[in-house]
Amino acid sequence: MNAGTPSAPLDVMRLRADFPILAEKVHGRDLVFLDSAASAQKPRAVIAAMATAMERQYANVHRGLHWMSERTTEAYEGARDAVARLLNAPDRHEIIFTRNSTEAINLVAHSFGRGVLRPGQAVVISEMEHHANIVPWQMLRDAHGIELRIAPITDAGEIDMAALEALLADRKVGLVAITHMSNVLGSYTPAARLARLAHAFGAKILLDGSQAIVHRRVDVQVLDADFYVFTGHKLYGPTGIGVLWARRELLERMPPFLGGGDMISSVSFARSTWAAVPHKFEAGTPAILEAIGLAAAIAYVEAIGYEAIAAHEAALTEHALALLAKIPGLCVFGAAQDRGGVVSFTLESAHPHDVATLLDRQGIAVRAGHHCAEPLMHRLGIESTARASFALYTTQGEVDALAEGILKVREFFT
Ligand code: ALA
Repeated sequence: MNAGTPSAPLDVMRLRADFPILAEKVHGRDLVFLDSAASAQKPRAVIAAMATAMERQYANVHRGLHWMSERTTEAYEGARDAVARLLNAPDRHEIIFTRNSTEAINLVAHSFGRGVLRPGQAVVISEMEHHANIVPWQMLRDAHGIELRIAPITDAGEIDMAALEALLADRKVGLVAITHMSNVLGSYTPAARLARLAHAFGAKILLDGSQAIVHRRVDVQVLDADFYVFTGHKLYGPTGIGVLWARRELLERMPPFLGGGDMISSVSFARSTWAAVPHKFEAGTPAILEAIGLAAAIAYVEAIGYEAIAAHEAALTEHALALLAKIPGLCVFGAAQDRGGVVSFTLESAHPHDVATLLDRQGIAVRAGHHCAEPLMHRLGIESTARASFALYTTQGEVDALAEGILKVREFFT
């Protein structure tokens, strides 16, 4: 690790050595992995933390009175502390471990949606949400009589703030649920401004930080958010672990999501009572090893420093946008003022799936499809895009390889 201080540029080649998979060849070529927005690669520190836990310190948590269980519980609860530190949460009990961002949003839709919101109230989402921040609210709408309102985006891919304010004006909105960074357009949303606006109209705010937290420091107190969700596997951690942060007073008012072991205070056949937060929301044996892996990922990112990561990725994005702008027939989607290292594009006369397949033949991994954002595709008047996404281990050479690769794809189709 030790790739530099926040003020120094990243030593990317040294960082890459932390990621064993980046040494792999694909089709006999060096792997150019530009699909980190879908899932990031894992540093050795994460792999080692999980392996060591399994080899030397593993039992179920919160249950045993024996040494192994106590040590494992310490490690699992230590992961909660790591997340609380990462988000600057005022209270470690506000951190709920889930399976991923999707489950975290479903938890809020179920428990806050049915337990706190009243039929006739509304939830606002935006046109550039991932399906994970659309479908749970549709399910809530259909089950609980909640109206679903859609905040439009501008052609640049930013939230239309005036239109959002108009949607809030009748004060029927109980929750604004919006991405903190679009997984298609790369746009960051003005989270603190959104929170101020939602609060001014009596609504709570949920931010989907699945993409944003990989690239920039998040402080839930500075943002004045009410709910913040993210997933471990995009943040260089393992799959199977996600996070919901919520204000404690909201968690206290929300009924449980899933029932079972570990989330109860007492059980009889007549009735059960709930454990205190966060355990009220963590039914069953949790993702112990994955939480330990996530804590290692957080420590890894913190040791490098968000400032250095953000500066590196901003330079890569600028370089990519400049190179792609020179390719005839290539259209980049999203031109937000504040945008990060996710670049979606189409190439005239080539289907995005063909673009991705021909790039793959050159050892370049990009994602193609609707990116779990079909309504956004409709808004853009397309069905799919190819998408390159950058991480702390992405090099300028890989961005050059992408541009050269696209030029070869273009030659093939013209
Ligand atoms: N949500 C992930 C992506 O954007 C899977 O690729």
